[in-house]
Amino acid sequence: MATRNTCIAVYPGTFDPLTNGHVSLVRRARSIFGTVVLAVAKDTHKTSMFSLRERVAMAGEALAGERGVVVEGFEGLLVDYVKRRGAKVILRGLRAVSDFDFEFQMALMNRRMAREIETVFLMTDFKWLYISSTIVKEAARAGGDIRGLVPDAVLARLCERFGRELP
Ligand code: COA
Repeated sequence: MATRNTCIAVYPGTFDPLTNGHVSLVRRARSIFGTVVLAVAKDTHKTSMFSLRERVAMAGEALAGERGVVVEGFEGLLVDYVKRRGAKVILRGLRAVSDFDFEFQMALMNRRMAREIETVFLMTDFKWLYISSTIVKEAARAGGDIRGLVPDAVLARLCERFGRELP
């Protein structure tokens, strides 16, 4: 008898903006978890270019129609949000060795604050190893072609922000 996968994974991030690397990770995670909540953080160590509302709207539009995927914004501590969501898994993507130190630190800190919550890492698909939200924004700002690196909804907002025509 088939059982329903009720495991919820919370995939937190700044998503300023969401890239196709993030989308790829969400889709792969969906083959493991019943629900993936893409949780857009208000409180991060970064200064965002897009407001929380804009980041949530872009991600929501880009992932609309993906079964088992929910997009939400959150404020405050991640572990508190994960508990409120009734989840026990924090999902993070690892691109290169350079990601490891920060991810390890964050996972251990979150574990210290909530031992019942586990952080699960998925390797980013090699196709997306070199991209980040920052590098995509930088290329877009300088007039580079970022088609194929971000969802259409994000491409439209980036062009609008930098006063460019849609390619
Ligand atoms: N494809 C493409 N890019 C990827 C990627 C992938 N699969 N995985 C990561 N990245 C990039 C992101 O684009 C981002 O690029 P940027 O630095 O240029 O913006 C970078 O890698 C990592 O960003 P992200 O995954 O969004 O994580 P973050 O470091 O911005 O997020 C939070 C940190 C939101 C998880 C953390 O600040 C948090 O939990 N905040 C809530 C408050 C809290 O609880 N703090 C205590 C934590 S211990």
